[in-house]
Formats: sequence, C-alpha cells, structure tokens
Amino acid sequence: MKRLISGIQPSGTMTLGNYLGAIRNFVKLQDTLEDTDILIFIADLHAITVPQDKLKLRQNIRSLAAIYLACGLDPKKVHLFIQSEVPAHNQLGYIMESTAYIGELERMTQYKDKKVKQVEGIRGSLLTYPALMAADILLYDTSIVPVGDDQKQHLELTRNLALRFNEKYGETFIIPEAYIPPKGARIMSLIDPTKKMSKSDPNPKSYISLLDDLNIISKKIKSAVTDMEACIRYDLNNKPGVSNLMTIYSCLTDLTYDEIEKKYIGKGYAEFKNDLANIVVAHIEPIQKRYNELLNSTLLDEILDEGRDYASKLAFKKLRKVYNKIGLGRK
Ligand code: AMP
Ligand code: TRP
Repeated sequence: MKRLISGIQPSGTMTLGNYLGAIRNFVKLQDTLEDTDILIFIADLHAITVPQDKLKLRQNIRSLAAIYLACGLDPKKVHLFIQSEVPAHNQLGYIMESTAYIGELERMTQYKDKKVKQVEGIRGSLLTYPALMAADILLYDTSIVPVGDDQKQHLELTRNLALRFNEKYGETFIIPEAYIPPKGARIMSLIDPTKKMSKSDPNPKSYISLLDDLNIISKKIKSAVTDMEACIRYDLNNKPGVSNLMTIYSCLTDLTYDEIEKKYIGKGYAEFKNDLANIVVAHIEPIQKRYNELLNSTLLDEILDEGRDYASKLAFKKLRKVYNKIGLGRK
C-alpha cells in the first residue's frame, strides 16, 4: 500500500491560501486515491522555529485539528496526529541533520526569507527545519506529499537526503514525490497580487482567514485590488489581481477560466466580485459551523489519540531500522 503524508504549521489563522493550496487537496485525495494510507499532522515542532506564545500555540494546535476535520478530512480515511506527540520525528530529524550539509540548508529560500525577519536572533532550528521536514516524510515510507508551491524546494531536499542516505547505508527510504495541485497552489495577497497570501502579512485585508467573520470575508473580496481595464480576463502578467480572483473562483466552482470569462463578458468587476464573495462565503460558512462544534469536543481528542498511536507504531519500527543501518546503539 502506498502512503501519503502532509502537515501544516499551527501558526495561527488558516488562510484561504492554505485551504486551496493544501487542505482541500488532502480532502480530494482522501476521496479519490485508492489503496493509500493517509497521515495528516499538525507540525507544531516546526512552529517553534520562530517565537511563539505558549497559550496561543496550544490553542492553534487544537484549532488546526478542528479546521482539518471541519474542512472535510474523514477520520475513517485519515490518521490525524500532532507531530510533537510522536517523538520519532525528532529522532529521525537528528539523523537527517546528520545527513544534510549546512550549505544546502542555507540555500533554502524559506530560510533566507525568514532569517531576515527574526528580531530576537535566528534559532538553530530555523536552519535545520528542512531536516525535520524530511524526517516527517521519510519516517513513514511515504510516496506522495501534497503541498503548496512554496514547499517544493523542501521536498526536493528531502529526496536528495533520502538518496544520499540510501547510497551510504543501503536501500532504506522510499523517494517521495511532491503533489502540487494543478490550480490553487499559489493564492496571492488580495492587496498585492504579486505576493503570496500569507497569514503573517501585517495587513489582514491581504488574506482571508477561514475563521473571519463572514461579512468581513465578503468585504475583503470586494475591496481586493484589480486594475483599470474593467474586463474579466485571465492574464497573470498584466492582470495579476483579477487572475488571482479568477483562480479562487475556479477552485471553488470548478468552472474553467474560459467559462468564467464567458460568464462575465460585458460585466464589471463589482458584479464579479459580488458573486465571488457569495461563493467564498457559501463555502466557508459550513466549515465554520462544523469547526465550532468540533473545537471543544471529546471526539477531537479521540481522533488525535488514534492518530498518535497509529503513527507512533509505524515510526518506531522505521527508526529502529535506521539506527541499525547506521550502527547506532546495540543490535
Ligand atoms: P504554511 O501556512 O506556510 O504552514 O503552509 C501550509 C500549507 O499551505 C503548505 O502546503 C503551503 O504550501 C500551503 N500554502 C500556504 N500559503 C499558500 C498560498 N498563498 N497559496 C497556496 N498554498 C499555500
Ligand atoms: N513545512 C511545511 C509548511 O510550512 C509543513 C510541513 C512540515 C510539512 N513537515 C511536513 C508538509 C511534511 C508536508 C510534509 O507548510
């Protein structure tokens, strides 16, 4: 049986970008892939590569678990767990740090972007983060890793580390493939469509949070930056704002860009944005309802317990094999 794994950091608000680039694809894959064991986790250890408030981190972990389920992950099809509850991730993470070279870690774009934003100093783990991510994946003999565009480079490094290890110690790890969604892998900011939509953007108008008030979501869409042409046409270079809104539209309705263009011939941005606002709200409203029901439920804990136990068993076995290959400890 093949295995699929992915994770998201519990670093606060989940945006429409996270949803379209990641979570929604996990749900689609769960419903379409056959003969695949699916593990989805909350990457809390990754979150502490930058400063976090203790209480907020706790809340964000639980909140992300509830979001995953509210968005449609089915605990009958998916094992959902919290990364820090399966210590083998750290253990293999160290092995991966001992496989990676500092030079290749320093070349990671995400590291270069984040390191200049650290006011308290750059944590060692910010640099070694991709080694931990490689461990998250390789620990489970994973073949498919669905992620947004920005994680491609980390996946490439994971593959290189697996190949390097296999070459040195003999076949140990499966070489994983990234699954980047054909559409929605890079949702852009609503106020600057040349930048990625990101929850860490200081201007909350630039992103839609899945937990935003529905009226606010509607207002944010209606005030999204477009252009002066007043024509609904997909043209990433010349019309990045409209194209981004069309991507969101297309992802949520399954209409193609051509179909959307035809639908809005002769119509203005106001009507287009109004329709899109209704589409986004209609999509997020039931997610919020389920989220509120799940957040404080014991069901949520039961699902996370099952996920932790399932993942721990697989991980422990793999880790023992890896230690043996390297010659650590006793036989
Ligand atoms: P992060 O919020 O950076 O932990 O990302 C979690 C997941 O969401 C990853 O798979 C990202 O690639 C994806 N993601 C984050 N932001 C966006 C975005 N603006 N558009 C599409 N996917 C995104
Ligand atoms: N680094 C990913 C992000 O920031 C989260 C992540 C951690 C992940 N470990 C992973 C994603 C393993 C896929 C597989 O979005």
